[in-house]
Amino acid sequence: MLIELPENCVVVLIGASGSGKSTFASRHFSPSEILSSDSVREMITDEPLPRDGDSHYLTFKLLRELLDARLKNLKFTVVDATNTCARDRAPYVEIARNNDFYSIAVVLDPGLERTKAQNAQRKGRPPTPEAVVERHRARIARSLETLKSEGFARVLVLESPEEIDGTRIERIPPWSDLSEDTGPFDVIGDVHGCYRELLALLGTLGYEVDPENHRAFHPEGRKAVFLGNFAGLGPEVADVIKLVKNMVGDKNAHSVPGNHEERLRKLLNKANGSADPVLLEETRLANETQEFRDSVLGFLENLISHYILDRGRLVVAHAGLPKRFQGRVSSRVRDFCLYGEDMEDKKLSRTNFDRKWVDGYKRAPKVVYGHYASDVPLEANNTVCVDTGCVYGGSLSCYRHPEGKIVSVPAEKAYAKKS
Ligand code: CTP
Ligand code: MG
Repeated sequence: MLIELPENCVVVLIGASGSGKSTFASRHFSPSEILSSDSVREMITDEPLPRDGDSHYLTFKLLRELLDARLKNLKFTVVDATNTCARDRAPYVEIARNNDFYSIAVVLDPGLERTKAQNAQRKGRPPTPEAVVERHRARIARSLETLKSEGFARVLVLESPEEIDGTRIERIPPWSDLSEDTGPFDVIGDVHGCYRELLALLGTLGYEVDPENHRAFHPEGRKAVFLGNFAGLGPEVADVIKLVKNMVGDKNAHSVPGNHEERLRKLLNKANGSADPVLLEETRLANETQEFRDSVLGFLENLISHYILDRGRLVVAHAGLPKRFQGRVSSRVRDFCLYGEDMEDKKLSRTNFDRKWVDGYKRAPKVVYGHYASDVPLEANNTVCVDTGCVYGGSLSCYRHPEGKIVSVPAEKAYAKKS
């Protein structure tokens, strides 16, 4: 079995004493990535086994603090303890969530006989009493039903010695991490269905464009980055979606979602389950085939909230992203990317909202974002907003990285009124 583990996750090992958790951990992970309750206990008591309630309490308190500190530093971590019941596991899920990390449960169960045999033959410490091992196994068996609802994003159960020994682990970057891609990039603000202006901008930037087939590429290998809100509001939403989707598919562009793509995703989902023509009309894709609408839905569902590009020098997100959320994954990170820091009322226009995170943004990658339509691009503290309100009759703007230049084309007319 191949297990892919993103770097922004916490692995919580679950297994009876003697099931082979520490052996598994040392086979697959480096020592500093493993927080083992036995090691922490030994650090503070010089003894591998619990001596009294106080040392037990202090051991797990320290383990939680170490976990929190590692996640604050964006470090992949494995918790090696028996973790047999929900009460033991809950703090790790919570610490992971507070740091916008995934939690993944890995249950090791080589079977009762094998567990007992491994427990009995260990060196350097006395075996755990057999009754305790049996109790551990019974608790874990009951836990299998609840692990998902406890907040683990994934639950992996390795149920035999063969499965445990045959496991391979592949570490993968967080989905948002495209730091290997060095561009150069043309980061394009909110297009909102303004196809003609998008074609004009791409042409100005030196892209070869094929408007009928909705394709474009740059002869020097530059990549477009769409900041979301390419859909919604404007005149030719389907054409813009086709171009963005094709450019991403051809690896000539990246795209993050905006609040309008999120709205469209929900609408398409609803429209699929209903014959309501009004609903379909609202998608602005009523004249397209069902097959196309399905492919758009698939495309939108796979958009990643934000990207880190060019060796960490550039971050793109629809409504911007403070340093503390960059490279992390959770619903609050996604909400920030889609709606900005005032997320409570998602229906309100964001044009005049404060961006407190921008004020405190220092010594961190350049963040390029859109969402807040204004007359000119707004630069502050190594961040720049390039939504210049094309659909409202302003202009369509792009930030060129690494040149740091802004290029804009004017809107042909105002297609929508600012709310
Ligand atoms: N072991 C083994 N073959 C395996 C796994 C474990 O021979 N595939 C042996 C280890 O060498 C060790 C004993 O079984 O002597 C227990 O394994 P360990 O990894 O220490 O088990 P844990 O689950 O970590 O036990 P505990 O919860 O008590 O720390
Ligand atoms: Mg162990």
